[in-house]
Amino acid sequence: MTQDLRVSREKVEEYSRDLEKKVEQRTEQLAAQNVAIKEAQEALVRTTRLASVGEIAGRAAHEVLNPLTNINARVEKIRNQALQKNETDLKLLKEISEGWATEYSAKGAQGLLAALSGPSTAQEGKTLFEEDIENIRAIAGDVLASMTTLQSDTVFLLSESDRINKIVNGMRQLSRVSGTARNIAVHAFLDSALSTMSDLLLKNKIRIEVLYCDGQPRILADSDEMLQVVSNLLRNSLQAINEARDQNGKIGEPVWIRIATEVTPAGRVLIRVADNGPGIAEENFQRIFEPTFTTKNPDEGTGLGLSICRRFVRAYEGEVRVEKSISGVETVFLIDLPEAGEQSNGNA
Ligand SMILES: Nc1ncnc2c1ncn2[C@@H]1O[C@H](COP(=O)(O)OP(=O)(O)O)[C@@H](O)[C@H]1O
Ligand SMILES: [Mg+2]
Repeated sequence: MTQDLRVSREKVEEYSRDLEKKVEQRTEQLAAQNVAIKEAQEALVRTTRLASVGEIAGRAAHEVLNPLTNINARVEKIRNQALQKNETDLKLLKEISEGWATEYSAKGAQGLLAALSGPSTAQEGKTLFEEDIENIRAIAGDVLASMTTLQSDTVFLLSESDRINKIVNGMRQLSRVSGTARNIAVHAFLDSALSTMSDLLLKNKIRIEVLYCDGQPRILADSDEMLQVVSNLLRNSLQAINEARDQNGKIGEPVWIRIATEVTPAGRVLIRVADNGPGIAEENFQRIFEPTFTTKNPDEGTGLGLSICRRFVRAYEGEVRVEKSISGVETVFLIDLPEAGEQSNGNA
């Protein structure tokens, strides 16, 4: 009996040792598989990123060509019109002043006066002085006019080069590998985004509503990038509201932009940027996240904002999408990111 018991206990012990070993082996296998899956995932992210970088580069190159063509055409116009006209005028001015100087050095002031009082050869019935003065006045008028044109030409050139600047900057952000993920406090970067935009929002008489959830939710992300994501969304809301105001489009009263946060039981941090502007037209709904898709005029929008937002947020396993859009009632952009534990990685 005792013998039997001992044997069976030894068997149980052996069995349990065996089981432990099996569990250990299986855990190792799972860990290895996990690494492999993670690597495959990263490779996939890299290839999709590269594919869209190529796509973005193509579109952006196309977008840069428009202002560049405009700049070329305008510089050509300046060269042909303004410079040629000024050259003719300045030659005439040189002729007049040299004529006067020659008379004066040969015959003195009296001699110059006598010559100027003589008849004009070019214009019948006028004295030479009258002809000269008329020409000088005309030249002054021409120079003034061409300066005004040149002034507006430079404004145009600057705005076009500014546009190229914006497109190239946007492209750089879109194609760069994501920043450094740190454990950051959500309400802190939202406050920064609001404070950088607050003057502009106030000036435009837009009410700001801040509805933060309790506590201090944290995420793993690059705070500069997140600041930019939220600023892009705020700027879009502001522009949408102003555009509707300009065109008497549908808009709620009073006009507001709202930032709200929430942490779900599933451990997701939700950031909502909403406005009661004109909303997104149905036909554009599917396209607004495409790089270079814009409904704004060229000095207002490059169409890169939302794709930059999406790229940044997706790099931290998040997503940004339109939750709803009802014209004049509410348009809500939702940023959805995994919640990070208290200071679980890096510093804030
Ligand atoms: N809050 C909003 N309300 C209405 N339309 C919006 C809003 N945000 C974005 N959109 C639409 O999405 C388009 C793309 O936005 P974005 O990628 O930021 O580029 P951009 O602002 O340069 O046009 C905008 O041109 C606009 O039509
Ligand atoms: Mg934008």
